[in-house]
Amino acid sequence: MNRRNFVRIAGGGVVFGATAGLTACSSAFPDAAVAAWGGPAASTADVRHWILSYAILAPHSHNLQSWLVDLRQPGEIMLYCDLTRLLPETDPLSRQIMMSQGTFLELLDIAARQKGLRVDITLFPQGEFGPATLDKRPVARMVLSADVAIKPDPLFAQILKRHTNREAYEAREPAAAALEAIASSVAPHPVRTGFVGGAQADVLQKHRGIAMEAWRIELVTPRTIMESFKVLRVGPREIAEHRDGLSINTPMVRTLTALGLFDRSKAPGPDDSATTGQIKSFNEKIATTPAFFWMVTEGNERKTQVNAGRAYARAQLAATAQGVVMQPLSQALQEYPEQAKPYADIHALLQAPQPRYTVQMWARLGYAPAAGPSPRRGLQSHLLKDA
Ligand SMILES: Cc1cc2nc3c(=O)[nH]c(=O)nc-3n(C[C@H](O)[C@H](O)[C@H](O)COP(=O)(O)O)c2cc1C
Repeated sequence: MNRRNFVRIAGGGVVFGATAGLTACSSAFPDAAVAAWGGPAASTADVRHWILSYAILAPHSHNLQSWLVDLRQPGEIMLYCDLTRLLPETDPLSRQIMMSQGTFLELLDIAARQKGLRVDITLFPQGEFGPATLDKRPVARMVLSADVAIKPDPLFAQILKRHTNREAYEAREPAAAALEAIASSVAPHPVRTGFVGGAQADVLQKHRGIAMEAWRIELVTPRTIMESFKVLRVGPREIAEHRDGLSINTPMVRTLTALGLFDRSKAPGPDDSATTGQIKSFNEKIATTPAFFWMVTEGNERKTQVNAGRAYARAQLAATAQGVVMQPLSQALQEYPEQAKPYADIHALLQAPQPRYTVQMWARLGYAPAAGPSPRRGLQSHLLKDA
């Protein structure tokens, strides 16, 4: 939403006046919501707490942070997925949730290396989830052991700096060395990566077109936009209370909410300014995005999805080290019926014919002003059973 839409919604100067009072307010998130980005507490006695304090900074779809760990077995971490934190409308097969388990595992592994610890990870130690649904069985069992052969991973230094960036990107393309660093960072995991930039102007345009159409579909499909509304946190009170989900703290949206003009209980119509304004702003950002990045896997097993998440975490950390920012564009990759055409289009464009191949990640890539950290619930919220 932008100021002009706001006036249209509000229908006049009364509400305009109300915004003025808030324009001096900071859009920064409350300290408590982003405290986890300060790293582990100095008093951390159990090395697993230290490691997990980094793992919970992993990227997760809709920032749902669906990670639960059981630490009762000394020297082990058992990871479970919190089944109350899924996205059944936009991620009906929980593919992105599985990727988001993978991002956590990767950061956990990188943090453990920093302490000279080897992590032996067994995915789905009690059997893999089926293709459509998740269940209560663990996602991974991790056994930690000291190993002099373990070397620190340079990506560790990027964990506290990595943030998803949804701003407009500069026109200049990421440097070739940055693309190389991103591509080689995923080597430990079986994914195919690719990039497109201005050298292939017609292909770049196709990427932009698919991204715009997929986003439009998500916004005008009531049940998918409602899924985002349910985890939308507006203003310092809601953000500090939940410390998850999609957080907005701009004075304008806070004012609209305070005045009851931003109604999250029902989906806006396709022609409402709340919808058209978001489409316009997204399209402007996509139209100037200088490059796109993708990751394709052969097969789409649960393990493949988790490993794709591990690869994505590495790619984003490697980008961060190069000063390059990313924003995943998941809409066209989503498996709900309304997205069937963008889904087919992106798979065709990336030469990833289904069902053999799956596009697991598609992101825009570039340079932009730094984005701030997003909220985290903190380590204690993830401890299912402590030692
Ligand atoms: C599998 C996956 C899919 C994601 N899809 C999107 C997306 O479509 N759009 C977006 O803006 N961010 C997307 N994200 C980024 C998350 O929203 C982000 O990681 C989360 O809000 C936490 O913010 P952070 O990455 O800055 O820590 C995705 C992340 C993951 C791991």
